[in-house]
Amino acid sequence: MIGAPRLGCAYYPEQWPRERWALDAQLMAETGLSVVRIAEFAWSRLEPSEGAFDFAWLDEAIGILAAAGHDVILGTPTAAPPAWLIEQHPEILPVRADGRVHKFGHRRHYCPNEPAMRAASERIVRALGQRFGRDERVSAWQIDNELGGRCYCETCRAAFHSWLERRYESLSTLNDVWGTAFWSQEYTAWSQVPLPDVAATPAPGPFGFSRNAPNPGLGLDFRRFSSDSLIEFLKLQTKVLRETCDPRQRITNNLMGFGFPEIDYHALAEEIDVVSWDNYPVIDTTRQWVGPALAGDAMRGLKQAPVWVLEQQAGPLGWESFRSPHPGENRLFAWQAIAHGAELVSFFRWRTARFGTEQHWHGIVDANGRLGRRRDEVRALADELAGVGDALAGAHPRGDVAVLHDYDSRFALQVQPTNPALGYEAGVRAHYAALRGLGLGVDVVSPRAPLAGYRIVVAPSLYVMDESLAETLTEYVQGGGILVLAPRTAVKDRCNAIPERPLPAWLDRLCGLEVVDYMSFGPEEGVAIRGEDDGLLAGNLHGWFERVEPATATALAVYAEGPFAGTPAVTVNEVGDGRAVYVTGVGDESALQHLYLLVAGGAGLELLVLPHDVEAAALAGKSSDLLLLFNHSDEERTVDIDVDVGNGEWRARIGSVSGGRVVLEPRGLAFLEAERAPQPASPLADTLP
Ligand code: GLA
Ligand code: ZN
Repeated sequence: MIGAPRLGCAYYPEQWPRERWALDAQLMAETGLSVVRIAEFAWSRLEPSEGAFDFAWLDEAIGILAAAGHDVILGTPTAAPPAWLIEQHPEILPVRADGRVHKFGHRRHYCPNEPAMRAASERIVRALGQRFGRDERVSAWQIDNELGGRCYCETCRAAFHSWLERRYESLSTLNDVWGTAFWSQEYTAWSQVPLPDVAATPAPGPFGFSRNAPNPGLGLDFRRFSSDSLIEFLKLQTKVLRETCDPRQRITNNLMGFGFPEIDYHALAEEIDVVSWDNYPVIDTTRQWVGPALAGDAMRGLKQAPVWVLEQQAGPLGWESFRSPHPGENRLFAWQAIAHGAELVSFFRWRTARFGTEQHWHGIVDANGRLGRRRDEVRALADELAGVGDALAGAHPRGDVAVLHDYDSRFALQVQPTNPALGYEAGVRAHYAALRGLGLGVDVVSPRAPLAGYRIVVAPSLYVMDESLAETLTEYVQGGGILVLAPRTAVKDRCNAIPERPLPAWLDRLCGLEVVDYMSFGPEEGVAIRGEDDGLLAGNLHGWFERVEPATATALAVYAEGPFAGTPAVTVNEVGDGRAVYVTGVGDESALQHLYLLVAGGAGLELLVLPHDVEAAALAGKSSDLLLLFNHSDEERTVDIDVDVGNGEWRARIGSVSGGRVVLEPRGLAFLEAERAPQPASPLADTLP
């Protein structure tokens, strides 16, 4: 975080009369905002007909915003190709999985591989870059808007063939690694390779197989290809912007948090300067804090650097109907995003739309221009942030534990979901929630991220494995790390085929065991486990159970019942200076909480006892430690802060603390600060001259 987090908003000058712009700019400033994002969908106004650009209005809008003290983020408008372009090139429209064309009249109606779309995008982005790329009033570019979608058109099919040819070089390799002898699917020409014939969304049903089931290698590669196609489309734009703009202007893209499953965000993040994301917490019908917290940590983990929230929910939302945040929740969720690493929180949107699809998607100001409760809440938030800006400057979230987020595993499980209890997102979320429930700071990172600095690394669903990743994980453990693995780890190779190896493949030695049998039950069906020795580990595993034969591993818990009663349920294997823990079934809340109490407590990490619905987020400030406590419930909550937690006396900058006790109002928060204890001198210090 560079300084105090900044606040901003999305603004669409093209949707409002020109006479209103100056008043809006001034009201935004009076609300405490200082960053405004514009132009992201304005293609028809920026290029009313092919090659005829009209940037005068945009220049004027930028001028008005800058004069009111705002930094401008310019969006490239490619998420909304104009009608004239589609009329000229109807082939731009993408094709859905079911063969239907996604027609004009919405947005994201383009195929990223279509040459006409790529040419038109390059043209408008180049013109914008040439005009505003050296403009001091513009501080950043947002490319497109929320990239996503998989296109099934013939252009994409041909592009997929070239992609496969680059990857495998020969058809015989492809036939080999996909195992196309199965069901007579051997290809004798690249052009025969189909796009996987799947329903657009998985069919409901407990085991997910009531739909077409393409070759798993084909399914995984098509997902990789679709992700690459969108990243290539983004790169087309970053290339033009890097050619035309001052490097001072940073390039970003608004991503969609952890929940969005279509793009390898690790690969995307390499192409941009700053990761941004869009945060709509009340979309989560469970109204839990875990979703947006996980999203924040996963987005920060992409570059292991501060992020921008380019769309923060400002009010009730929905296209057809809408759900409303409670009073105070906009403040709470904005603060939560900041606690997870956001240095900019920009609300969506300044003013509710009078026209168009999003009339129910409320901005800070009402559609009729009325300033009300939401505006007051944002204004108060701006004041509150300014009051603690000194402490937040230079602060970053504390990463005690790394949770691994792997897109190959995620994509492979989409292709071939087995038991819903083993769902990728659910697995990551459950382990993440258990860790955060103990007050631990979590970095959600790629398996290729440097891991050595973490005491604990958790891989809740590393379904796809290869030898080199297995080596990396083994080195991590040998070096003293604690690795936690969950069931169905390493059962597929990078081509989504089953390795001819003992399970977990390439990791059996590290885990000190072999999985010799497994049973899949209904996702909610649980069996109890019983802790060995101290009996600390308790709870249920559900849905999926594995029987393991330990070689060198010992049991931390055994199955107390069920098909594998009496056999190890959770194991640990000492390797080098570290340990590999293997959980043989899907842990429920209690099992995972107990597991991490044992593992993290044993590793000497500081733990907090948190009441239900209270979230703790620890940050390391420049010279102090910070602790934010969020009460996400609608009742008062009390948290006891042990004096051993933190390095000194906690002092409340927001809220109050007395005698180690913090009382949190419903949907309230506390911001605590403690001086950092002097770091112990390096043992080498005495020997230095
Ligand atoms: C997304 C988009 C915005 C807007 C909001 C609300 O996050 O990026 O343009 O559509 O949703 O619908
Ligand atoms: Zn296409």
